[in-house]
Amino acid sequence: MGEHVLAGKSIVLGVTGGIAVYKAAELVRELVKAGASVRVVMTENATRFVSPLTFQVLSGNPVFTDMFKQDVYDINHISLTENVSLMVIAPATANVIGKIASGIADDLLTTTVMAMEQPVLICPAMNSRMYANAVVQGNIKRLVGLGYQFVPPGYGELACKTEGEGRLADLSAIMEGIKRALTPQDLAGQRVLVTAGPTREAIDPVRFISNHSTGKMGYAIAQVASRRGAEVVLVSGPTYLPAPVGVKLIYVSTAGEMRDAVLSWKDWSTVIIKAAAVADYRPSTQAKEKIKKSEEFLQISLERNPDILSEVAKEKGDRVVVGFAMETEALIDQAKKKLKEKNLDLICANDLGEPGAGFAVDTNRISIIDSAGRVEALPLMTKEEVAYHILDRVREVIDDRIRGRKGRD
Ligand code: PMT
Repeated sequence: MGEHVLAGKSIVLGVTGGIAVYKAAELVRELVKAGASVRVVMTENATRFVSPLTFQVLSGNPVFTDMFKQDVYDINHISLTENVSLMVIAPATANVIGKIASGIADDLLTTTVMAMEQPVLICPAMNSRMYANAVVQGNIKRLVGLGYQFVPPGYGELACKTEGEGRLADLSAIMEGIKRALTPQDLAGQRVLVTAGPTREAIDPVRFISNHSTGKMGYAIAQVASRRGAEVVLVSGPTYLPAPVGVKLIYVSTAGEMRDAVLSWKDWSTVIIKAAAVADYRPSTQAKEKIKKSEEFLQISLERNPDILSEVAKEKGDRVVVGFAMETEALIDQAKKKLKEKNLDLICANDLGEPGAGFAVDTNRISIIDSAGRVEALPLMTKEEVAYHILDRVREVIDDRIRGRKGRD
């Protein structure tokens, strides 16, 4: 689960000839670090950019390049496809994409692809004009139609000194593509709206009221929901986190802006998960200029912010609505109260007093409470693992609804 998606998985990495080959070396390192075993097969052209020895050292396995070498022939193309979880081709040139789309198998790499029954993930990298070429695009479309998966190239400066779409996708996007390819798509068809991070309520142009939320919990939920096949919109307060891969990210600052964003995506969503720490109060007035340090005491009057979660849950229809509760005392009782008052399907209670739980850390310890009042207390785990658990419970609520509807029909 979570970062363990890759543990114990066996991945065949096909490397074709392009300047991005050096990035494939970094990919092998990341995969091995995550617990996967990697066997690399290179085209002859790829070996001109980086020596097979580099991949051998990083993967800890022999590297395969030639179909007709005696030692390789023993572990021929068929055995390279056995006990494999996934084949990744990175970087994939226009040439290899064209060959696969046309059924050509004239070297060890393309022969291996042809015999592969497991998913194949292709990460193209080429000059932007080549990538835009109708033949290349046609080949990609054909392969997508046949079930091949792609991590599209990124935009930026290319080795040929031009700028455009064609450079090998970032390592984080490729790693996420690999995790997705290894994950059952049990949230496909769901549209998940997640909120994350703090809000900021300005006192004057310099100062604001906020809290310690970093967004880590909400970002993990958004990433895992997307990995499991959902379409995801993430409404985020100010954070320093990289955008989750494959997720539509909407940045907001104040509770008012978060409310507007959530309400405008509410009807689109089938699931709403509110992990954001929204400021309950905002200054009644906002000074236009910086407040000067003069008096000994300064009073700021505050007024209530809208409760976004209550507002969306009031008219939730068939939507699954999940809240968080963060308390420093009587956590479970308070959380149960919030679940009832706010008309939620699930609430995730995290105790700020628990070591390793709540704000800023990479771990959390939550109890998930359902609408029947049942409490599932989870042990301390990473926020990514917590996200998996929450989404499992969301899936259960959806399945119960589907069963309920069938029962009524
Ligand atoms: O971001 P991290 O550093 O990873 O930290 C994670 C977290 C501790 C912030 C997260 O796990 C968490 O508990 N988020 C909710 C914190 C919170 O605001 O709790 P609350 O008990 O005050 O609010 C209850 C629920 O109502 C929450 O789902 C909240 O998003 C929602 N709410 C609250 C106030 C408001 N005006 N509008 C809301 O929608």
